[in-house]
Amino acid sequence: MACCPGDARPLRKALADLPPYVPGARAPIGAAAFKLSSNENPYPPLPGVVAALADAAMDVNRYPDMYATELTEAIASSLGVDTDNVVTGNGSVAVLAHVLAAVCEAGDEVVMPWRSFEAYPIAVTLAGAVGVQVPLAPGGRLDLPALAAAVTPRTRVVLVCTPNNPTGPAVHADELDAFLAAVPQDVLVVLDEAYVEFVRDPQAADGLAALAAHPNVVLLRTFSKAYGLAGLRVGYAVARPRLVAGIRSASTPFGVSSLAQHAALVSLRSVDELMTRVDAIVAERDRMLAGLLAQGWEVPDSQANFVWLPLGDQASSFAADATRAGVLVRPFAGDGVRVSVGEPEATDLLLEVTGSFRR
Ligand SMILES: Cc1ncc(COP(=O)(O)O)c(C=O)c1O
Repeated sequence: MACCPGDARPLRKALADLPPYVPGARAPIGAAAFKLSSNENPYPPLPGVVAALADAAMDVNRYPDMYATELTEAIASSLGVDTDNVVTGNGSVAVLAHVLAAVCEAGDEVVMPWRSFEAYPIAVTLAGAVGVQVPLAPGGRLDLPALAAAVTPRTRVVLVCTPNNPTGPAVHADELDAFLAAVPQDVLVVLDEAYVEFVRDPQAADGLAALAAHPNVVLLRTFSKAYGLAGLRVGYAVARPRLVAGIRSASTPFGVSSLAQHAALVSLRSVDELMTRVDAIVAERDRMLAGLLAQGWEVPDSQANFVWLPLGDQASSFAADATRAGVLVRPFAGDGVRVSVGEPEATDLLLEVTGSFRR
């Protein structure tokens, strides 16, 4: 293609250093494989959701409700908070970007656990902030005392991913209480609860209680995982009204499509049916974990819809074996492999691969 004057203009320096976001592997067209690489819900949408999408399709010549009014009200009432405590966005990953855009000045520090959700370093850098990574504690757990100790006068935000993607454990209530008591009030604590519906650990922290007690807490949640709407892109933040208004100011106008708004609304109304599916995924997760432990693997506890295999240098070769067997997983080279929980047949196949890999 011919060069034009625009080609000579440098892109932002920050882009050169951005780690890539690696999407979970997809099966080649026409090939059959279980996709356990993106922490998706294996169940197809409920019939009522499909019907709502078909209805909403007739209106796509119009812009959506910019404030997602009905959905925002439904989320607020499902959580027992006020409408001005909730703001929706184009997936919770976009809501995180909007939170950072709303609060970070150039050069502010954002403290985060590492390894954690791979979008964090990208979002922080794009916000013009500086990421400070704090290693995980043994067992793939967040090291909350170390996260608190990493806070400096330059720190504006701490990211707390619970359960942690990709390792799986949830933060405990006593850990979060001590952490919130230690962190200054002017530092925003983002509790990323993308997998909260899968948590069964009785000691796990209660994000809504933390939010009620601490004005510097914001929760991020999503319809992508438990609600099975990853393809529609809708997530939200729950926070104090002033912060919610700030996040809204930083959001992409009309960011949540009318299809996504309708599907999420119907999903909230069908919560019992969807949570029965979540229970089945949790049971399948526990079966996967038990199978791995029986084979002698040392895997962290998981409170999400995935498990972590701490394979170190063998991560990529394990992923290649799994692909050959018809299971797509998410390797993090040199570190480990994340396996999402899907169909029971996928668990069986995965356990065959993990069994032969150990022999
Ligand atoms: C910890 C965490 N937060 C947020 C997200 C993003 O979810 P969404 O699809 O709502 O953007 C993910 C998705 O994998 C995640 O793992």
